[in-house]
Order: sequence, then structure tokens, then C-alpha cells
Amino acid sequence: MSNQKKNDRMPTIGASRRSFIKDTGRLLAGGAIVSGGLAIPGNAHAHGSDLIKVGLIGCGGRGTSAADQALNTYGGEVRISAMADVFENNVQTAFRSLQGKHAGKVDNNRFVGLDAYSDILKSDVDVVILATPPGFRPLHFEKAIEAGKHVFMEKPVAVDAPGVRRVLAAGKEAERKGLAVQVGLQRHHEFRYQECIAKLHDGAVGEPIFARAYWNAGGVFKRPRRKGQTELEYQISNWYYFNWLSGDHINEQHIHNIDVINWVMNGHPLEAQGQGGREVRKDANSGQIFDHHMVEFAYHGGARLLSQCRHIPGCWTEVAEHIHGTKGYCNISDAKIFDLRGNLVWESETIEGNGKGWQQEQHDMFASLRRGETPNETEYAAHSTMTAIMGRMATYSGKIVKWHDAINSDLLLAYTDSLHSLNDPAPLWPNERGEYDVAIPGKTKVF
Ligand SMILES: NC(=O)c1ccc[n+]([C@@H]2O[C@H](COP(=O)([O-])OP(=O)(O)OC[C@H]3O[C@@H](n4cnc5c(N)ncnc54)[C@H](O)[C@@H]3O)[C@@H](O)[C@H]2O)c1
Repeated sequence: MSNQKKNDRMPTIGASRRSFIKDTGRLLAGGAIVSGGLAIPGNAHAHGSDLIKVGLIGCGGRGTSAADQALNTYGGEVRISAMADVFENNVQTAFRSLQGKHAGKVDNNRFVGLDAYSDILKSDVDVVILATPPGFRPLHFEKAIEAGKHVFMEKPVAVDAPGVRRVLAAGKEAERKGLAVQVGLQRHHEFRYQECIAKLHDGAVGEPIFARAYWNAGGVFKRPRRKGQTELEYQISNWYYFNWLSGDHINEQHIHNIDVINWVMNGHPLEAQGQGGREVRKDANSGQIFDHHMVEFAYHGGARLLSQCRHIPGCWTEVAEHIHGTKGYCNISDAKIFDLRGNLVWESETIEGNGKGWQQEQHDMFASLRRGETPNETEYAAHSTMTAIMGRMATYSGKIVKWHDAINSDLLLAYTDSLHSLNDPAPLWPNERGEYDVAIPGKTKVF
């Protein structure tokens, strides 16, 4: 296969054109922020080039891009039929941006508020994109499956063990109902990763002994408190810095690299121990998350993963995964394999730029739906999320954490089902100096 072909991989589209998607709901009033019920559709299926209607829940950076990428897919018509966000300006910005790129393919049905997601689920959309902060994912995913929607949801899929279990249960229900679930761990849809990991599974480096995974970077956005905001509004706006919303950056970002190692190892680790803390995150808008974590994970068979993630400007930056085996070494993110003497023995010829997976995962999802297939990525995504959470449990507690204890933990960081208005009490409150609880290894309890 030539590079060009690999890079422009076109999905195979089912040949039959059947009018399978029923227009069961009434259209929402155009041009206004509206709310209100639509008829609840039965299970949504698309075939051939039928129109697929998409609802976007969480209209920030990633949600807007995922909607754009869904509209770029081949093989049939796609519309963004409805959009929801807790903040009116975000839904408006996303609407303008998508309408600007895909004129005529974005309906002006916009919902605002903490319950806006349920208006999308009551509508006749076939697919929902869930791209809010991950603290809301278990609730939104469970309700989306209940409503009979195919789901594309962003990673991570939860922030705590009860959330992971809820997602696993909803994933099983999706399977039972024949609904597709795809997760934004896009490396699984990048050809270089697929090729390279297939080689590793074929024994290209022998038995895995040791892995390394990094997300060392300078940090992410900060959204300072604004005058007049309620505490809940502030936390949802500056969500990255609160565990009940993000699960800390080991979960939020480093999950990508941890997930690749789980993929190579064909499963999750059995235990973790590690350390971390806050060297530079000291200001009022830094919430409660650490700025560095270093975790050693132990897998079945004894292989270890050394994982590092750092959010400190001015340091060595690296986002990558590596594996060392009995017969050689693989730089997975560069798709290169070396023998034990350091000679390059295989290198992917595919030129696939960073971020290519974001488009490919949408091609793959929509092509599957048009073929009448319903892939379900819930389990590995939930296990990778749980692996990252287990790493956080290890760095927060300073203790060895076993998988069985971690995944059975009943420590729920927030009961998001009870949040309906930005005036509701926040799940977490600062002290009189405006500081939030930060984990102290040796003292903090994680179960
Ligand atoms: N796969 C990737 O490479 C990748 C890249 C970036 C982000 N993400 C993921 O996408 C998700 C969103 O990240 P982002 O960068 O777009 O953040 P963002 O802050 O830009 O967007 C989040 C949006 O969700 C909205 N929101 C918050 N709570 C909501 C609720 N309860 N109901 C409806 N809307 C709500 C916010 O107002 C905001 O518009 C995160 O899970 C993140 O990890 C994935």
C-alpha cells in the first residue's frame, strides 16, 4: 500500500441504501436557544448513505472539532442537528464555527444549561458526541445509551471507580441494544500505531519486560474566577483543576500513553505505586490537581511500566510510548523497532501527521454505522481510564494500590446526577483562604 493510500484511508461504505433513520421528532425552533421535549426515538441505525443526525454535548474545543470531523466523513450525509452546552457563549461560538465551515449542515437547535444534554437525548439524533469534562461522562453516557443513541465519547470516560463501573455497565447495555460506542483514544485509529502494535503482538521485540510512557509538557488552559460566578460555575469553567471534573492530568491527558501500553500488554496492570505533588501549581486558580506524577505499574507476567506526566513549563517535554522486550526495543510513537544491539529493524512507512487519528476515528465510526456495524470500545477505554485513576490513587496515597481494590473503590468524587443549575452547591468548597483540598501522600485516603 502506498503512503498516499494509507494516509487517505477511505472507509468502505455499505452498498445498500435504505431509509432506516426515522424522523420521529419535530424540529426545534431555529435561531433561538430553546429547550423542550422531542419524541424519543427507538434504537438509531444508519445504513448506506442515509442521513445521520448528530447531537453535540459539550461545545468546547474538542467537541467542536469532533463535530467538524464527523461532518468531514465520507459516504453519506451527516448533519449536526442539535448542540448543548452548559454555557451559552460556548454553544454559540461552536455553532458559528461549524456553520462557517459546513454551511447548511448545522441546524440551529441549541440548548443551554446543566440539563441541556437531556434535551439532545430526547431529540431524534442518531449519534451523540460527548465532549464535556469527563466528570459528567458516566451520567451522559448512561443516559445516551438509555435513549438509544450511538455514542462517540471523549476520553477519559470517568474520574473515579464508581464512574468507571457505571460506564462499563452502560457499555454492556449498548452491546445488548446494538449501539455503537467509540472513544476518543484516537491512537487506536492511527495506522502507524495499528501497524506497530500488530508487530509487537507478533513478537517483534519478544516478551515485553519494561515500558515507558510520557506526557511531560508545560500545562493547559487556566480560566480565572470571574466576578459574579457561582462556585459551581467557576469550577465547571476552570474544570481541569478539579478532580471531580478532570480526575487530574494523569487521567485527563496521560491516559493516552497509558492506554497504548495497556494495548501492547493486552490488558490492564495489576498494581501501581508512585509519587507526585505540586511544585508550581500554587496560585488561586490551580484548584487541587498535582503538577507531576511518576508511577510504576506492574502487569501480569511481571512487566513494568514507568509512567511520567508533568505540567511544569521550562522542563524537558515528551509525549511518547516505548517498550523494551527480550529481543529488542520499540519506540511505539515513532513506529520504529530496534534489535538488542540498537539496529533499526523496522520502521513504518506511513506518514501520518500528529492528530490524524481525530479524523480517522470519525471516518471509522461513520463507515461502521453505514455498514450496519456497531463497534464497542467501552471496555478497553474504561480499563485505561481506571489504570490512570489507579496511578492517581498511588501518587495521592503514597501506597501500593492493587487493581482489585482500585476498581471496587466506592469513593465517588461528585454525584453529578444531582447538579441541575449553576446555583446548586458545588461538590467541593474552598477554605477561607480560597484553597481546595490537595492530596498529601501518606495521609490521603483513596478508597
Ligand atoms: N482525544 C483527544 O486528543 C482530546 C483532545 C482534547 C480534549 N479531549 C477531551 O475532550 C473533553 C473536553 O475537552 P475540551 O478541551 O474540549 O474542553 P473545553 O473546556 O474546551 O470544552 C468542554 C465544554 O463542555 C462544556 N460543559 C461542561 N460541563 C457541561 C455539562 N454538564 N453539560 C454540557 N456541557 C458542559 C463546557 O462549557 C465547554 O464548552 C475532555 O474529556 C478532554 O479530555 C480529548
